[in-house]
Amino acid sequence: MATKKVVTKKKVVTKSKRPASTKVKPAKGKLGVMVVGLGAVATTMIAGVEAIRRGLAKPIGSLTQMGTIRLGKRTDNKSPLIKDFVPLADLNDLVFTGWDIFKDNVYEAAVHAAVLDKDTLTQLKPYLEKIKPMPAVFDQYYVKRLNGTYVKKGKNKRDLANQIIADIKAFKKTVDRVVMIWCASTEIYLEPTAVHQTIESFEKGLENDDIGIPPSQIYAYAALTQGVPFANGAPMVTVDCPVMVELSKKHSAPICGKDFKTGQTFMKTVLAPGLKARMLGVKGWFSFNMLGNRDGEVLDDPQSFRSKEVSKMGSLDYIFQPELYPDLYKDIYHKVRINYYPPRGDDKEAWDNIDIFGWMNYPMQIKVNFQCKDSILAAPVALDLVLFLDLAQRTPELRSLGIQEWLSFYLKSPQTPDGLYPEHDLFIQSMKLKNTLRHIMGEELITHLGLEYYD
Ligand SMILES: NC(=O)c1ccc[n+]([C@@H]2O[C@H](COP(=O)([O-])OP(=O)(O)OC[C@H]3O[C@@H](n4cnc5c(N)ncnc54)[C@H](O)[C@@H]3O)[C@@H](O)[C@H]2O)c1
Repeated sequence: MATKKVVTKKKVVTKSKRPASTKVKPAKGKLGVMVVGLGAVATTMIAGVEAIRRGLAKPIGSLTQMGTIRLGKRTDNKSPLIKDFVPLADLNDLVFTGWDIFKDNVYEAAVHAAVLDKDTLTQLKPYLEKIKPMPAVFDQYYVKRLNGTYVKKGKNKRDLANQIIADIKAFKKTVDRVVMIWCASTEIYLEPTAVHQTIESFEKGLENDDIGIPPSQIYAYAALTQGVPFANGAPMVTVDCPVMVELSKKHSAPICGKDFKTGQTFMKTVLAPGLKARMLGVKGWFSFNMLGNRDGEVLDDPQSFRSKEVSKMGSLDYIFQPELYPDLYKDIYHKVRINYYPPRGDDKEAWDNIDIFGWMNYPMQIKVNFQCKDSILAAPVALDLVLFLDLAQRTPELRSLGIQEWLSFYLKSPQTPDGLYPEHDLFIQSMKLKNTLRHIMGEELITHLGLEYYD
């Protein structure tokens, strides 16, 4: 971010270079939200937005809707709501559509997901049942535990991408702007290969049905080539490869991923920075999960679990920086387990056992038992990503950047430009996000230095 240090006597102020007037385009008209996968997270987000619009609920968990942002000095007492400070799409202007491998409308899918209670869903039924999925691009090779019945047919992957492009073009005629978000099942673990290096090699791969291109990348390719921003709420690579970054920049369609940061990893990125800030050592961190929703069933397959495991494992290493603090963190034993246990449904339970040590090596233990509701935590995260990606596309400095690293706050395994390590510490992520908003609106950045108060 372009900043300039202005130093006067004892005063140190970090100023954004941008003049105070904003160049961010206003959020005029309807924002179309194309959701891939109308399952538990997606239907909880859509039903929640409608409940909020009708005054039946408050947007709890959503930073864009409830969060404030401090501007200027602490003594200025200026902390507007984020949504009043940056021009975000209004919830009343959101229009939802999506794809799924089952034909259920959003009401039926929400009943099946069993996250929200029946009374609430009955009240929202007339709205929810009107949102019907389009047939999906799906191949069971990439999600072993599902067998899709509502699936597009095509002569090759290029043809399937063209069909998604046709869906996007048709939807675009009914709204003013479009964002796509992946809320579909976790695909098997795949690493980028030669096919993911350039646009040319990727397009050839689409023609040749390259096995390295899963459905998620067919959707992402379709979105980006149509100038539609893409957020990845699942742990697969999807847009985290050179071809997608290039397409994102070329078409000014911002991207971010991977994997919504909601339950256990959210807690990890709160606790670990605290332990490190106090120079307390960690010997082991055992993370156990049990969940019984469809996501849990999909993750019961070892290849889909591998995608999740890689995404969940990264945070501790980056936060603790064992290379800088070998005495404290060199030998951490970190284990993550996910167990499918149907009776729990969407009510996931996560246990963490953390073996720490302090002054003179004395051992201590921390136990965390988070009894969460997976989709209740994920829905506002998905909503915020949609709204912020749309904002990014209307912001000259952000729209052609490709990866929107300032959205790492929401993601378990944040995508970063080549050569940069991901920032996992929730508090640094939060500061980065808010300073990005201050910067694009021409406000002073907040460094928390505070020396000016002593003048
Ligand atoms: N807290 C959370 O719930 C959380 C946190 C992080 C990540 N995630 C990820 O978000 C995703 C959604 O989670 P969920 O609980 O809603 O799962 P879910 O199983 O309820 O929903 C996924 C939906 O995607 C559909 N689907 C699968 N493949 C598809 C395809 N190729 N095209 C279109 N639709 C397809 C399925 O039919 C299903 O309806 C998962 O990948 C999950 O790992 C969830």
